[in-house]
Amino acid sequence: MNLTEEVAYAKVNLSLDVVSKRTDGFHDLRSVMQTISLHDTLSFWIEEGQSSVRGMEGADLSLIDKAIDTVIQAAGSSKRIAYAVEKHIPFAAGLGGGSSDAAAALRASARLLAVEVPLSELHTVAASLGSDVPFFVEGGTSLVEGRGEKMTPVGPLPLTWILLASEGISVSTRTVFEGLRMDEVGDGKATDRVMNGLTRGETVLGGNDLTQPALREFPGIAHTFAVLRQVATPDRIGMTGSGGTVMAMFARKEEASRAYEVVQPQVAWSTVASSVRTDGVIGGAAGIAEEM
Ligand code: C5P
Repeated sequence: MNLTEEVAYAKVNLSLDVVSKRTDGFHDLRSVMQTISLHDTLSFWIEEGQSSVRGMEGADLSLIDKAIDTVIQAAGSSKRIAYAVEKHIPFAAGLGGGSSDAAAALRASARLLAVEVPLSELHTVAASLGSDVPFFVEGGTSLVEGRGEKMTPVGPLPLTWILLASEGISVSTRTVFEGLRMDEVGDGKATDRVMNGLTRGETVLGGNDLTQPALREFPGIAHTFAVLRQVATPDRIGMTGSGGTVMAMFARKEEASRAYEVVQPQVAWSTVASSVRTDGVIGGAAGIAEEM
């Protein structure tokens, strides 16, 4: 059996500026996105006959199926690709798990069918699957603009340890965007603050315009913020994406581990992850960082 494996990293938003509301219902954004060591592992293989799909129960596999179908159609192939997913990234949590799985499916399908898809085309296909999917085609540290389709590699981010925590609530991105009032967005400079930090070799959390609507629509997120304030100063704490995961940033693994011990008993879900560069390298050493 011709089997190929993919590691699908989660992401965090180091900043998220909502620039404007568009006429197509989406919003133009500016954000610095960063892949982190928390990941799903996916296996893909070509299967003769009926496609069998195995995955974690409750997983939203439709985006993976769509990604596979798109590549099969583009390749004009009649083959079937089956897959298995080992899921670790929580759903609807602002960590991009579904989008990262879809990008992994695009990469794996192209490899299995031996089709050469130019990167620009892969990005277009990725954008048709979801706003965050293009970022995950390569990952790393990127300035993401427009609906999510315009990407500029930036960084590198210094190795950073990230304590993630949530109440385990499923947050609908659409609901949070619908609750956003354009008169309450920040100064539009959150992303600039992160980029300026990168030029100084520092990890900066710039701010996230979706925080207020997310707190309004999903009040449980306030508790996670309160718990993280026990272990980090407010400038080191922020929400990722449309929530409900809240993160605290640390320069050293030991600090993150100590903070985890305090936070873990008080929240529904928590873990420590590290930043991951586009080539999967973590702090100079290849491989996947240990998770807690
Ligand atoms: O593209 P995706 O399916 O991830 O988007 C989910 C929802 O989030 C969209 O239906 C839209 O309401 C909102 N959204 C937005 N502007 C973006 C990305 C998402 O308004 N740039």
